[in-house]
Amino acid sequence: MKLLLFGKGGQVGWELQRSLSVLGAVTALTRRDADFARPAALATIVRAIDPDVIVNAVAYNAVDLAEREVELCTAVNAQAPRVLANEAAALDAWLVHYSTDQVFNGSACLPYTEHAATGPLSVYGHSKLEGENHVRASGCKHLIFRTSWVHSPRRDNFALRLLKMAAEREAIDMAADQFATPTGADLLADVTAHALHACLSNASLGATYHAVAAGEASRLDYARFVLDWARDHGVPTRASSETLRAVTSTEFPSAARRPLNGRLSPDKLCATFGIALPPWRDGVKRMLAEAHLA
Ligand SMILES: NC(=O)c1ccc[n+]([C@@H]2O[C@H](COP(=O)([O-])OP(=O)(O)OC[C@H]3O[C@@H](n4cnc5c(N)ncnc54)[C@H](OP(=O)(O)O)[C@@H]3O)[C@@H](O)[C@H]2O)c1
Repeated sequence: MKLLLFGKGGQVGWELQRSLSVLGAVTALTRRDADFARPAALATIVRAIDPDVIVNAVAYNAVDLAEREVELCTAVNAQAPRVLANEAAALDAWLVHYSTDQVFNGSACLPYTEHAATGPLSVYGHSKLEGENHVRASGCKHLIFRTSWVHSPRRDNFALRLLKMAAEREAIDMAADQFATPTGADLLADVTAHALHACLSNASLGATYHAVAAGEASRLDYARFVLDWARDHGVPTRASSETLRAVTSTEFPSAARRPLNGRLSPDKLCATFGIALPPWRDGVKRMLAEAHLA
């Protein structure tokens, strides 16, 4: 079994190198090997490797900057996946692709299911939805995982940025009206390998799934949890969960609009693949512990 992984330096890509290794030989590429800003060149790379599975962990994730870099964002998040999907279809290979809660507008009261109507608010959200649609339209065997608030100890993320900020100042404003689920890149990679393994013997399982840890949090809940963890583990901070100020998202003007409700229901994923997802707090604890290992 040959697996071709794009984006090995990213949060999810790095973890996938380990998780996918149990399924076969993984060729893992970086931006230097394959630049998604030039989608047409990807076809030659795929054909040279002739994989059984293509895994796309590449994304243009600069949500605010995307409002100005529309062309680049669209090339990476929509046009490149289209090329990969067409190549996968031609090779009869699987394509694993990742997407986001930001394909929704966040106005629903409940967690979104896979069948809920999409309605992205930003250039990033539009580009990710377009990427998904290209994958589905290509006719290739595919798994699309929508996820939210991804974290890993290896790259900048909300929790690690918060700890830096909390070391410098006492009062920090945090949105209490924006909800999603912090999800570990390690969890996503393990879920991917598990689901892919099942799909390899039952192609009818290929579909779009919501893949997040169990539970939900506001930005404020998430920040409180991180600062309580810091207090309990002797990580020095000036701010604490008590000095966080609850505000609304409108207090943080940003170039891109984000959904207030980014909650994704993982019920279909759990039922289809027999997965029990760990609570989001466990994943954040693991990430913080690893980030603070000497
Ligand atoms: N991060 C989140 O909170 C979040 C939330 C929801 C969904 N997702 C989705 O989850 C998936 C994985 O995200 P992640 O958090 O692992 O992202 P990440 O850590 O930002 O990694 C993105 C990867 O894409 C690569 N990349 C970016 N532009 C490229 C280009 N032009 N050519 C080639 N490679 C390029 C990066 O390369 P370098 O290593 O060279 O930078 C990096 O390896 C993505 O589909 C993302 O949209 C993420």
